[in-house]
Parts: sequence; structure tokens; C-alpha cells
Amino acid sequence: MAKVLLTGGAGYIGSHTAVEFLEAGIDVVVVDNFSNSSPKAIKRVEQITGKSVALYEADVCDKDATRKIFDEHRLDAVVHFAGYKAVGESVKKPVEYYRNNLDSALVVCELMREYDVRGIVFSSSATVYGVSENVPFKEDAPTGGCTNPYGWTKYMIEQILRDYANATPGVSATLLRYFNPVGAHPSGEIGEDPYGEPNNLAPYVCQVAVGRLPLLRVFGNDYPTPDGTGVRDFIHVVDLAKGHVAAFQHMKEGVRTYNLGTGHGYSVFDMINAFKRVNNVEIPYKIVDRRPGDVATSYADPSLANSELEWKATLGLDDMCRDAYNWQRKNPNGYRD
Ligand code: UD1
Repeated sequence: MAKVLLTGGAGYIGSHTAVEFLEAGIDVVVVDNFSNSSPKAIKRVEQITGKSVALYEADVCDKDATRKIFDEHRLDAVVHFAGYKAVGESVKKPVEYYRNNLDSALVVCELMREYDVRGIVFSSSATVYGVSENVPFKEDAPTGGCTNPYGWTKYMIEQILRDYANATPGVSATLLRYFNPVGAHPSGEIGEDPYGEPNNLAPYVCQVAVGRLPLLRVFGNDYPTPDGTGVRDFIHVVDLAKGHVAAFQHMKEGVRTYNLGTGHGYSVFDMINAFKRVNNVEIPYKIVDRRPGDVATSYADPSLANSELEWKATLGLDDMCRDAYNWQRKNPNGYRD
């Protein structure tokens, strides 16, 4: 049976991806240091799927600890999620972000080489398109011009993996550029559980909906968009997770880059209105100034992933809002209950 290592597999996207791999009949090994996640997520993955996961608590920057995993498992690929991901924090702690995110990626490359593991799927981001608003983004659009160190780490790791795969015959590197993942597994057993006050829209809306936060701040209503609020390509995390399985199943020698998005842009108000309607809840909000670094509009052209990976996002905004709220209501304090 095929086997993949998910670094950072206990996190939001990692845990949903673990479910989809297991349901596709592919074995999963997870390594996570739980710096921003909980081992409970993996217990829940096992409950959902009825299958077991080999779980290691280790920091992927620790090469010896991570080598043990490569030693104990014959891996077909690594799906590399592990990394720091808070945009604002990255501006304040750039050295920590570059050290952690680049080191962990380099350790993965070194161990893949040592153990002749030939596939890597990387958790990249639409943030690599920088401040451009030449939408929809296609994979060959210019990258760079990132507005924060977090974004630059994604850009740099893409380049490292390109160079590594190009220099190493037989290796396949697939760079997945996520748009805005939201929602949760429909079981409500796993979902997004940010520590502290959420930075992103959907978890903020969820916490307002359950009364954990009093008010949503809408960052600007004077953008050149249909209703003045920012437009994003929100994608259901289960669709996104399935994109990783498709990427694994379509691995080919060399480097490939895919946008994972729906191809549709929805505004902040669209999200709030859908959330209220689908869940029959109130979302008190107020309009405040724009958030520095935000663009007006961002959405994907996902046609390359649609054709080459035979993958397509099928869930809509209503599904995302329903599933996100279901998770939040069942777990008002995330995994800390
Ligand atoms: C952000 C990051 C991106 C990262 C992604 C996932 C920036 C500039 N970009 O994307 O690099 O990959 O998160 O972690 O930070 N909004 C509000 N109120 C809120 C929160 C958000 O109005 O409390 C608005 C934003 O202004 C934006 C939209 O909601 O228009 C989406 O914001 P967010 O969920 O933070 O995602 P991005 O900014 O698109």
C-alpha cells in the first residue's frame, strides 16, 4: 500500500488531508510538533476514517528526529505542510519565520535524498502572486513582491523545491498554491482552531457566531469591488484536501505548479450574508480601515489542476459556512475542551 508522510499533519489543512488520503486507501504517517495544533486532531482523523495513523511528535527542523521516521517507514512521498503561517507575526519575527520554514523544507529535501523518496507535494500559497491583481491568476503569472516574510518563505521554498527536483533525476515536486481555505469536515470533528485571536476571516466569523468574540471588523468597504469589500477565492478545506490526493496520484518526474481554488470570487459581505442565512445566526460587524497589505481582489484560474490533476472544487460557499459553523458549535473552544 502506498504511504505518505504529512509534515504538520495535525494542523488545519493537514488533518483534513490525512482523512482524504486514508479514505483513498493510502497510508498516512504524521509528524507534528504541535506548536500550533493538537494531537486530538489525529485521534479524530482516526475516528472519522476508522483507520490508524502513525503519529510522531517531532520538529521537522530536527533532522535526527525526522530521520527516524524515514528510517521506520518506506515512504512514497512527503506532503510538506509544517511551517509558521501567521502573516502579522511574520512581520515581527522574520528571522524565526525564515529559520523555521526554510530549515524544515531543507531537512525534508535532505532526507528525501538520503532515503530515495521521490515525491514531494508542497503547501504553497496564492500569496506568491504578491500584490498583483491581474485576476484570475494563472500559474505562469509573475511571482514575488510578497508583502510579508511568511509569503516570502513560500516563494523561497517553491524555488528550493524547483531547484532540488530539477537537479535530482526521478524526483517529482508539486507546488500547490492555495487560495483561501475555509470550512471543516462535515462530521464537525476536525476544523480550524487558531490559537489566540484569529487573523483570517472565516474563523473570526465563526467565533463571533458562537459569541466567543463580540464583533467582526470588516477591513474596508471602499475597494473597487461590487460591494466595496475584499473579494477572495474561498475554497472548502475538504476540496483542498482532495487536491493533495490528486497531486499525489498524478506525480510525474519534474516540477509542476497548480492553483487550488474554485475560480470564483466572493466578497467579505457575501461570506457574512451566506453565513447568516445558512446558519440562521447574527454576525455583528463594523466597517474599519483597510488592513495594510490586503489586495482588493484575488481568485484563481484553476483550469490547470482541473485538467492535469483531474480535480475540481465541488463545494460552494454555503457548504463552507455550514461546515465551519457546525465544527465551531460542536467545539466552541476548538480542541481545548
Ligand atoms: C491571508 C494572507 C495570506 C495567507 C492567507 C491564509 C494577508 C495579506 N494575506 O489571506 O498570505 O496565505 O491569509 O492564512 O494577510 N477580513 C476582514 N476582517 C477580518 C479578517 C479578514 O474584513 O477580521 C477580510 C480581509 O480584509 C480580506 C478577506 O477578509 O479582504 C480575507 O482575509 P483573510 O481571511 O485574512 O485572507 P487573505 O488576506 O486573503
